[in-house]
Amino acid sequence: MIGTHRTRPEPAGADGADQVPYVVLSCCMSLDGYLDDMSEERLLLSNRADFDRVDAVRAQCDAILVGARTVRRDDPRLLVRSPERRRQRAARGQPVSPKKVTVTSGGDLDPTSRFFALGEVDKLVYCASSAVPATQAHLGSVATVVDAGEPVDFGRVVTDLGTRGVRRLLIEGGGEVHTQVLTRGLADELQLAVAPCFVGDSRAPRFVRDGGFPWCPEHRATLAEVRRLGDVVLLRYALSDRFDDGGDAD
Ligand SMILES: NC(=O)c1ccc[n+]([C@@H]2O[C@H](COP(=O)([O-])OP(=O)(O)OC[C@H]3O[C@@H](n4cnc5c(N)ncnc54)[C@H](OP(=O)(O)O)[C@@H]3O)[C@@H](O)[C@H]2O)c1
Repeated sequence: MIGTHRTRPEPAGADGADQVPYVVLSCCMSLDGYLDDMSEERLLLSNRADFDRVDAVRAQCDAILVGARTVRRDDPRLLVRSPERRRQRAARGQPVSPKKVTVTSGGDLDPTSRFFALGEVDKLVYCASSAVPATQAHLGSVATVVDAGEPVDFGRVVTDLGTRGVRRLLIEGGGEVHTQVLTRGLADELQLAVAPCFVGDSRAPRFVRDGGFPWCPEHRATLAEVRRLGDVVLLRYALSDRFDDGGDAD
């Protein structure tokens, strides 16, 4: 373990049944800090080597969370792709891919999207209390709909995932989700890949929005690793005293 700045909540249950998950926040951004551009097509910022690295990270997690706008915009599969990694998970007694998790205030999600349609894995939709009945009617046949409070509280989401056996949670964006997780101090680790290009359009979604982040010029985050993957660079930051230096895949 290396020196870090924050202390995350202790596990609530002595028997480990409701541990707070280890939270890895991961994304790839442009040189000017954007996650996407404003075109119709999804912007692929990572290269092949980095996509494979992310696949390895997914294979080590129990759940992958993305915001509802990422589900609507990207229609992601959120599955482990490598047959060998799927086989290894099965050999460990795990589902071949992690649970899929999203967060929404109103439940405006397409039940036929790949998030819901692909993968024999649990799908969880955390939504605001007032939207639970409508979301249950709309998505209840393809996902477990969970009341996450009014407004939705990410701390509650993370804790609830712990009660569902999630020990390692991978959060893959987008920026609105990153902002809440980081400003609330809920992440143990940040894996930030930087692609060698600019987006140059301030209407596009950034890595994070405005907010009060625990890490500032007077309180710098701890850089744990720098890794070159072709023309992409991976920056790993330790964000809590739970940082697991050996926990990264590959
Ligand atoms: N480059 C990368 O690595 C990467 C990774 C992921 C995403 N992206 C890009 O990021 C963009 C999306 O990012 P984004 O910041 O616009 O959106 P986002 O973070 O993906 O999702 C935001 C949505 O999540 C829901 N949400 C978030 N916090 C909530 C809360 N506390 N309570 C209730 N609902 C909440 C809301 O859904 P409702 O609107 O349904 O209420 C909100 O509109 C896309 O363009 C995508 O391509 C890039």
